[in-house]
Amino acid sequence: MSHRVTARSIDAPVRLPGATSGQLALELDTELPRIALEPDWKDQPRLWGHPLHPMCSYLASFPASLVHAFIARYSRPGDVVFDPFSGRGTTPLQAAAEGRIGVGNDLNPFAHLLTASKVEPAAPAEARTRLARLRLAWAGVAAAWETRAARIQAHPDASPDGAPAEVAIAFHPRTFAQLLYLRDALDLDDRVDRFLAAAVTGILHGKSASYLSELMPNTFSMAPRYVRDFAARTGFQAPERDVFTCLGAKLDRLYRAPLPPGAGIALLGDARDAAGRARTALRARGLPDRARLVVTSPPYLRVVKYGYYNWLRAWFLGEDPRTIDAALDDAHHRAPYLDFLRDVLHAMRPILADDAIVVLVIGDVATDRGRAIRSGTGLAEQVWAAAAAPEGYRLAGVALDEVRANRKMTKLWGEEAGRATQLDRILVLGAAEAGRRRALSGAATPVDWAWPPRLRAL
Ligand SMILES: C[S@@+](CC[C@H](N)C(=O)[O-])C[C@H]1O[C@@H](n2cnc3c(N)ncnc32)[C@H](O)[C@@H]1O
Repeated sequence: MSHRVTARSIDAPVRLPGATSGQLALELDTELPRIALEPDWKDQPRLWGHPLHPMCSYLASFPASLVHAFIARYSRPGDVVFDPFSGRGTTPLQAAAEGRIGVGNDLNPFAHLLTASKVEPAAPAEARTRLARLRLAWAGVAAAWETRAARIQAHPDASPDGAPAEVAIAFHPRTFAQLLYLRDALDLDDRVDRFLAAAVTGILHGKSASYLSELMPNTFSMAPRYVRDFAARTGFQAPERDVFTCLGAKLDRLYRAPLPPGAGIALLGDARDAAGRARTALRARGLPDRARLVVTSPPYLRVVKYGYYNWLRAWFLGEDPRTIDAALDDAHHRAPYLDFLRDVLHAMRPILADDAIVVLVIGDVATDRGRAIRSGTGLAEQVWAAAAAPEGYRLAGVALDEVRANRKMTKLWGEEAGRATQLDRILVLGAAEAGRRRALSGAATPVDWAWPPRLRAL
């Protein structure tokens, strides 16, 4: 087992901040029936799965192994697997990698870009040829872009083609000029260019020589003011990184395995009307139009701001982080959150096969900026009672996932991990009774963890 252990041991019992042991027992002793699912995804290496998965970090993303545990048990090759909150595209990519049809939807344009790049990837020759052309073209225009980059870095916000100061200070002048050029040259509606842009977002910042800026960790962008102060205080000088060379190396890592054999669709929009758009897209491609499995994790309650924590990536993609955060459903209080999820589950019904299984990974939120949110814990139970049961779903059971919760958010807030999720609960639902029975009978099916998946299974 190889886990990245950060602020606390992932195997230690999870204690909610401020909870006494009696309270802890109460919080974890769910009223809902447990499903006998072996949490075998926890035993897999951190980077288990297709090399396209880690194309770019994304907060609160699934490990691919968790998705595989459900795809392997609850779907067959050729089935449609759907995720209305696809984030960086883990569910649809894993589905496509296993010969299923992976359909992902997200309202965040950055998430959509990542999902689309994974389910409709550029072929290696396409990406490398395009990169070579861009590099050649750069040679002819470098001087003009370097002049522009220097002007912006001298007066970031004042210049008409400016960039925020925190963007301008993050890069070496030449690296910045290359990024300005690529930002202008890449057409995000083009499949190959989109793939290259997504790959750039994955190497934009991080603490090693493979990243274009070392100002921030790879996981997320630090607060802009903090970044400006830090750079001023430490006299930060960005090391020179050649974007084309770093991008070429990134492509080598992404293409370490053949592209997924299955089909995939990426949709941009609200989860509340994703099912209709998914069905239209599936029909347009002559594919089956009902999903047999949904594996999804709805936005967390008042925790993650996907625009704010990705402002440098948003800048590169020409997106406004504030507009992203204003659109996403991450800032609800409990009651509107449950209404929202009920709407999502209601709208999803028409795309579900009669024996469909719906897996909802719900992150429990223990505290918000240090203050306990009582309504945050036990959220999965509330989702069942207030959103899924009234919409006619049938409960197969709940499984607990302690590993993910500890591993992912501690990186973001360090010792203040209580601010984020403590324990994910996995609700396993049937769209109808046939789905519930299928979920229960398939729960004990042993999963083949060989990667890549054996061809005979596809
Ligand atoms: C917990 S993340 C999902 C991460 C995903 N499972 C992965 O592996 O990357 C929740 C996602 O919901 C998206 N989201 C928030 N509000 C939405 C809405 N109304 N419709 C669709 N997606 C939304 C966010 O952009 C975010 O990507």
